[in-house]
Amino acid sequence: MMTSPDEAQFFSMLLKLINAKNTMEIGVFTGYSLLATALAIPDDGKILALDITKEHYEKGLPIIQKAGVAHKIDFREGPALPLLDQLIQDVSSTKEKYHGTFDFVFVDADKDNYVNYHKRLIELVKVGGVIGYDNTLWGGSVVAPPDADLDEHFLYLRDFVQELNKALAVDPRIEICQISIADGVTLCRRIG
Ligand SMILES: C[S@@+](CC[C@H](N)C(=O)[O-])C[C@H]1O[C@@H](n2cnc3c(N)ncnc32)[C@H](O)[C@@H]1O
Repeated sequence: MMTSPDEAQFFSMLLKLINAKNTMEIGVFTGYSLLATALAIPDDGKILALDITKEHYEKGLPIIQKAGVAHKIDFREGPALPLLDQLIQDVSSTKEKYHGTFDFVFVDADKDNYVNYHKRLIELVKVGGVIGYDNTLWGGSVVAPPDADLDEHFLYLRDFVQELNKALAVDPRIEICQISIADGVTLCRRIG
């Protein structure tokens, strides 16, 4: 479930290179990538952390507290899609509070919703900001022949990951870069 250490190290460097301060993570689990982000952003940086359950986050929280970075995290429990819709709706009522404000968003949750997340996140990330989608190689299954003998779980979600990859490749609002680290991560830089 957890992000790999080399990927976390890569994100840590990336966050510092782009001077990320206002960030979001979808899919927290026990908080490993969250901790890496919290350590990489400045002391007054923020992470809006979304997960359908708080259970696993609470297990990792003592480590985050020990690292002295818990104050940067705003954890919200629930399915991410309605939470994102809420953020977008807040735009009209609170004068663009979230619209185009995120420097960096990391998505590592339910793959069958990534295309839906992208539709919302593109409005929430700032121009020049980065969205990172995890697992875009999906165990290599995205390039396996259609009749390949794949595990049922891989097979079911492969279509969604391929759909995302295709959608990102033709989206004129972003430029992308697929990194073959861990299970593959696609970085999308918003350009418009
Ligand atoms: C692969 S884990 C995240 C791992 C984490 N990024 C890390 O490095 O440890 C996926 C997480 O997505 C969460 N998740 C699954 N469906 C979700 C949804 N609809 N909305 C929000 N979170 C969801 C799961 O509860 C799980 O904690």
